[in-house]
Amino acid sequence: MKHFSLSLIFTFLLILHLQARGQDQCFECHKNAEDNPSKLFDHDIHHQKGITCAGCHGGNSQTDDMEQAMNKKAGFIGRPQGDDISRVCASCHGSQEKMKYFGSSLPTNQWKNLQTSIHAKPALKGKEQIVQCTTCHNAHGIVSVKNPSSPVYPLNVVKTCARCHADVAFMRSYNPSLPVDQLEKYRTSVHGMRNGKGDPKTAQCASCHGSHNIRAVKDVKSNVYFSNLPGTCAKCHSNTAYMKEYKIPTDQYEKYAKSVHGIAVLQKHDPGAPACNNCHGNHGAMPPGIESISKVCGTCHALNAELFASSPHKKAFEERKLPECETCHSNHEIVAATDKLLGTAPEAVCSRCHSAVQNPNGYLAAKVMRGLIDTMENREEYAKELVDEADQKGMDISDAKFKLRDIRQARLQSRTMVHAFNEAKFEEVVDNGLKTADFVISESQSSIHEYFFRRIGLAVSTIIITILALALYAFVRRLERKKNEVNK
Ligand code: HEC
Ligand code: HEC
Ligand code: HEC
Ligand code: HEC
Ligand code: HEC
Ligand code: HEC
Ligand code: HEC
Ligand code: HEC
Ligand code: HEC
Ligand code: HEC
Ligand code: HEC
Repeated sequence: MKHFSLSLIFTFLLILHLQARGQDQCFECHKNAEDNPSKLFDHDIHHQKGITCAGCHGGNSQTDDMEQAMNKKAGFIGRPQGDDISRVCASCHGSQEKMKYFGSSLPTNQWKNLQTSIHAKPALKGKEQIVQCTTCHNAHGIVSVKNPSSPVYPLNVVKTCARCHADVAFMRSYNPSLPVDQLEKYRTSVHGMRNGKGDPKTAQCASCHGSHNIRAVKDVKSNVYFSNLPGTCAKCHSNTAYMKEYKIPTDQYEKYAKSVHGIAVLQKHDPGAPACNNCHGNHGAMPPGIESISKVCGTCHALNAELFASSPHKKAFEERKLPECETCHSNHEIVAATDKLLGTAPEAVCSRCHSAVQNPNGYLAAKVMRGLIDTMENREEYAKELVDEADQKGMDISDAKFKLRDIRQARLQSRTMVHAFNEAKFEEVVDNGLKTADFVISESQSSIHEYFFRRIGLAVSTIIITILALALYAFVRRLERKKNEVNK
């Protein structure tokens, strides 16, 4: 078997060798006819590699006789159609041996990848798939993909994809729910604007979606599936050498991966937490209804944003051109929020702007708010301890136990209510929590008292019963002794 395939390869190589040796008669004759394929073939990379027209069309390229050259018996296939087009390309590009023969070390996975991509779905007309190799590369005049005139060169690929993806009628006939605004949005992004001005290094359609292996965005294997996406952006944005000429940091992924959001997306696979595109937009434009990226937090943390909007910081931050949320939480390395952020200690965010002399009203508020939240947490802790104790003593305190949840709820609410930056509103929430805590504490304390009361009661009655029992015993013994004496 191995022998057989080796000899097949050998025969193939021999034919190619013979063909490459002489002139390409197909090309010569067609050039005289001045047809398009031969004009384009002049600068085709295949021509440069010694591949003749017969390399794709079959036939005998060594004869100038039309009949003989384009004869089915000589393997002439004419104009390939449908999926046969891609199969012709793959006859070389899918075979490492053949590519090696031409001195090429290019990858040979294009056809395999294309067949598993979304573009391999059947086209509306005929049985062939939606795209063929020639859809993106053309059939004649093919050049290296690094050549600026290639249709898949970064500055051109955008148009190549948009030929279909911005064609409303065409796309609607396939999938009416698929948007057709990618190019339009892309043009408004930093990537798209730079690409339009001739920078081939920023992201274009293929750098995010792939080229041959493009999948539906909801496919877990897609480069842009939410949990794969940060890695896709990081290919460039974490590559210090690649980004050197641009004066922006390259630590976004590193910071993001350690943030609450990054951990939720990358480790817990939580689709509710933001990947890079949820804040920066899929195609670079802001998500709908968002005028600045710092507003994007409010699409998920609606309550925080609402409270902030009515807070004194709204105006104060606007005047100082400070972003709403990042000023205190940062953008990429957002960590779990704790009480440490609140207050007047050096590690509290408030003390960055508020002190006893600078904006002192905020300083006082921060101090009071932190005091309140600490008190509530202490009371909650104490309430929990007492409930546990009563529980262990077997007392029925289901009511108080249930109310623990309300304290927890108030504590969570107060953390959100911080964003009103208003002492009175904050105190109201905390007060609810404190009142509930007081109730739970007094309930469990009285249960515990009752327990001890019952235990004392039990002890007293046990003693009385024991004394009575002993007395009875002594009485019986005396009776018996008397009886014995009488019997003697
Ligand atoms: C002596 C001239 C001559 C030679 C040699 C020649 N061709 Fe042609 N070829 C033509 C002409 C003329 C036509 C158009 C006439 C026709 O449609 O039959 C044509 C048509 C074609 C077509 C289009 C067929 C179709 O179905 O649309 C292909 C493909 C083609 N040639 C490829 C080749 C290849 C490959 C070779 C070499 C193996 C070759 N030709 C050699 C003259 C030539
Ligand atoms: C890399 C593969 C490849 C090579 C090499 C190649 N062709 Fe083609 N050719 C194709 C494919 C694929 C089609 C079908 C294109 C389509 O329908 O979009 C085609 C179509 C044609 C057609 C018919 C349609 C048209 O565009 O007019 C002619 C004629 C033709 N080729 C001639 C040639 C000639 C002459 C040469 C050499 C100078 C050549 N081809 C080299 C792949 C190739
Ligand atoms: C007879 C073998 C053969 C066939 C058939 C063939 N190719 Fe090629 N192709 C090559 C070789 C060899 C190279 C040069 C590779 C290199 O430079 O390393 C090449 C280069 C290319 C390149 C440029 C890659 C680069 O260097 O950036 C593209 C794109 C390409 N071919 C597409 C096609 C398409 C599309 C078809 C079918 C229409 C096709 N090829 C058919 C052998 C073939
Ligand atoms: C949807 C568009 C599209 C289709 C269809 C397509 N390609 Fe490509 N191809 C690209 C892009 C874009 C590149 C640029 C490199 C990259 O980003 O991977 C590329 C690169 C290449 C290269 C250079 C080496 C490499 O893999 O990067 C070869 C060779 C190639 N394609 C061959 C093919 C063949 C053969 C087919 C058909 C089986 C095909 N392509 C189908 C878009 C396409
Ligand atoms: C910076 C990366 C990036 C670039 C550049 C990019 N895309 Fe996207 N694309 C995405 C992300 C992310 C999604 C959405 C994923 C999701 O919804 O979870 C997406 C979604 C899509 C979709 C699905 C429909 C939709 O709009 O949600 C299509 C089609 C698409 N892109 C095509 C393109 C085309 C065509 C281009 C070039 C004009 C392009 N993309 C450029 C990242 C990118
Ligand atoms: C010949 C037209 C055509 C070209 C060219 C084309 N596409 Fe597509 N593409 C389609 C069609 C049609 C679909 C929809 C398939 C479906 O959903 O049934 C699609 C689907 C997609 C999807 C998946 C959308 C989803 O459902 O989530 C992405 C992503 C995509 N294309 C990106 C690209 C990129 C990037 C390029 C350029 C490298 C490109 N396409 C070139 C026709 C094309
Ligand atoms: C092919 C490489 C590449 C990929 C992939 C890529 N980018 Fe970029 N991106 C760049 C380059 C280059 C710039 C230009 C830097 C500049 O603005 O000076 C840029 C700019 C940006 C900017 C604007 C920075 C600024 O303030 O100037 C943002 C935001 C951005 N990218 C986010 C993303 C996101 C999110 C993703 C993934 C969905 C992504 N990028 C994928 C290369 C890439
Ligand atoms: C929670 C929202 C959010 C997420 C998630 C996010 N970013 Fe950002 N990003 C921002 C904000 C806010 C800025 C500040 C710049 C601004 O306001 O335009 C920013 C700035 C940037 C910049 C400009 C340079 C810089 O560092 O200031 C780049 C590049 C960037 N982000 C890339 C990414 C990448 C890559 C990812 C995913 C690994 C990502 N971002 C995830 C919100 C986010
Ligand atoms: C796509 C929705 C989404 C967006 C946009 C978003 N977040 Fe989040 N955020 C979440 C989710 C979900 C969590 C909970 C993650 C976890 O803990 O598993 C979270 C957690 C947080 C936490 C920690 C909460 C805690 O209890 O400790 C903070 C702080 C935070 N986000 C701030 C921000 C800021 C600031 C922005 C804007 C720059 C932002 N988020 C944008 C969904 C989002
Ligand atoms: C002036 C500083 C400051 C600003 C501005 C700010 N936060 Fe906070 N944020 C805090 C503090 C302090 C806490 C922690 C409270 C605690 O745990 O005691 C917090 C906690 C959080 C939490 C966790 C508690 C909860 O509500 O679940 C989220 C989420 C959050 N912030 C989101 C945001 C969003 C979204 C914005 C913008 C609308 C924002 N923050 C603006 C200071 C700020
Ligand atoms: C980036 C700077 C900055 C940070 C951080 C900050 N503030 Fe402020 N805050 C201001 C400014 C500026 C004002 C308006 C000052 C003024 O007009 O006196 C203000 C006003 C206030 C006010 C209203 C005071 C009044 O006069 O009614 C309160 C309350 C307040 N801040 C609380 C806080 C708390 C609590 C924190 C920490 C969670 C905090 N601030 C963090 C800058 C900041």
